[in-house]
Amino acid sequence: MNIDEKPKFTILEIQDLNVNYSGIQALKTINLTIQKGEVVTLIGANGAGKTTTLRAISKIVNPKSGEIIYNGHNITRRPTHETVKIGIAHCPEGRRVLAKQTVFDNLLLGAYIRSNKAEIKADIQHQFELFPRLAQRRNQLAGTLSGGEQQMLAIARALMSRPKLLLLDEPSLGLAPAIVLEIFSIIENLRATGVTILLVEQNANLALQIADRGYVLEAGSITLTGVASALISDERVKKAYLG
Ligand SMILES: Nc1ncnc2c1ncn2[C@@H]1O[C@H](COP(=O)(O)OP(=O)(O)O)[C@@H](O)[C@H]1O
Ligand SMILES: [Mg+2]
Repeated sequence: MNIDEKPKFTILEIQDLNVNYSGIQALKTINLTIQKGEVVTLIGANGAGKTTTLRAISKIVNPKSGEIIYNGHNITRRPTHETVKIGIAHCPEGRRVLAKQTVFDNLLLGAYIRSNKAEIKADIQHQFELFPRLAQRRNQLAGTLSGGEQQMLAIARALMSRPKLLLLDEPSLGLAPAIVLEIFSIIENLRATGVTILLVEQNANLALQIADRGYVLEAGSITLTGVASALISDERVKKAYLG
């Protein structure tokens, strides 16, 4: 072993996972692993099963078969609140902030599994340092924020559970290019804090630029995987996703 090589620790392992929606097989025996500290991206066309993969991990949908092992725990049949408690946060597609609640209250909601009020307050303060735009708008209703600000709020809310593994679903969707770059630079900063990230993106180009490794999902099956730098120059990936 190369002396510079970091010791590996598998934080998430998906084994032979199948997910069905009333008859439709959305995931077909997929396998995926994530090492602690990695940014792994899952890319694929609309309808490929990216969101379903994240929903299966955080148990918003129940797998039909297969196993999901997180940090040595078999979480395949654990409910969502338990996955949050042991360190998995899901930042959903379409942000899903509570429009009629303030920025502050949305952040508070992200800490629903925690009880130490002083720590929660300190963490909200910390989110405001990470996301100065949210600090300026702390008493504003979330529904009045721009798309980019809502995405920042959704990420900050997810961070309020102090996750070890962050699931990010299409953070760039529908945002102006400048805001997309801002969001991606935030994701890079998060990586530097040690949080492991599973990033789902249709913007394969940007995702592969910040990821360590990637998986390509096509119609519910993983068809390609590798280090991000290899995928970005792979002819099949170029042709299908980097056009
Ligand atoms: N709630 C649902 N009920 C039935 N089918 C669904 C549901 N959610 C997703 N699907 C189907 O499952 C497949 C995968 O969807 P999804 O995981 O959302 O893909 P992606 O996130 O890659 O666009 C698609 O064929 C989609 O139509
Ligand atoms: Mg999706």
